Amino acid sequence: MASIEKMIDKLEELPSPDFIVQRIISLASDPNTSARELAEAIMIDASLSAKILKLANSAYYGIPRKITVLNEAIMILGFKTVRNLAMSVFTYGALFQKSKREDSGIDRRALWRHFVYVAVASETLGEILGYPVKEELFMNGLLHDIGKVALDVISPKLMKALHKITSEKKRNFIEAENLLEVPSHTLIGAKLVEKWLLPEMVVQSVSGHHNPDLYIDSINAEIIAIVHIADVVINIMHPGDSLSYGKPELNHEALNILSLKPKILSKFIDRLKDKLEKVDEFINM
Ligand SMILES: [Fe+2]
Ligand SMILES: [Fe+2]
Repeated sequence: MASIEKMIDKLEELPSPDFIVQRIISLASDPNTSARELAEAIMIDASLSAKILKLANSAYYGIPRKITVLNEAIMILGFKTVRNLAMSVFTYGALFQKSKREDSGIDRRALWRHFVYVAVASETLGEILGYPVKEELFMNGLLHDIGKVALDVISPKLMKALHKITSEKKRNFIEAENLLEVPSHTLIGAKLVEKWLLPEMVVQSVSGHHNPDLYIDSINAEIIAIVHIADVVINIMHPGDSLSYGKPELNHEALNILSLKPKILSKFIDRLKDKLEKVDEFINM
C-alpha cells in the first residue's frame, strides 16, 4: 500500500507549468490585460506560439480565414480560450514527457483523447445549459483526470497493477484503486493542480469529478456536476480510454444540481457528436 504523503512528495517529479504558462494563466484572468500583452507573453516561447496558432486554426473553432498572428487569435477566440490552448499544450507535454522511468504500458494516446473529449463535452454541456463562462469548463474538463498522469509518473508499477485489474476484470478505475487500497487519482490530482497554483475551481472539480454530491454546497457545484456528466458520457461513448472499463457510475445528484432533463441531455449528446468530429488537431497535437 502506498502512503498518500509519499506520493505527494513524489509529485515533485512531474513537470510544473513553467514561468511562461503561469504568466499566461494569470494574464488571461486579469481584466486589465491587453491582447498585445498576452501575445507578447506567449511569443517568448516560439514552439508554444506555433502550437497555439495551429490549434486556433483547427476545425474545432471553424474560423473562416487563417489566423496568422497571435494577436488575432486572442482577439477572435478570446483570452480564456488562448489560455486553454496553452494549458492543452502543457498538459500534453506532461503526459508524453520522456523519462527513464519504467513504462506502465498504458495507452497514453487514449488517455489524452479522454482528456480532450471530456474538455469538449464539458464546454458543450455548459453551452447548452447557458453557463456563463464555458471556457472555464474546457480547462476543468481537460484536467479532471490529471491524477492518472501523476500516478503514472509517481509509480508506473502501481499504474500497471491498476490497469491490469481494470482491463482484465472490466472494472472502473476507482474500483481498482479501492481494491489495491491506493490513494485515489482524484486526491492526487487535486494536490497536483493545487501545487500548480490553478484556481480553486479546478482543484475542486479534479477532486470531486466522481462525487459531485460531496460539493453540493460549493460555489463550484455546477462546474463539478458538468465535468462529472461529461466524464460519464465520454466513458460510455469511448470505454477504456480513461483506463476505466466497467459501467461508468452516474452520480444522480449531478442531474439535480443542474436540473438536467432527458430532453436537454439528448440535445447535448447530439451536439457533442458533431463537435468530437472536429478535434483531431487537439488529439494529434
Ligand atoms: Fe476520474
Ligand atoms: Fe475521466
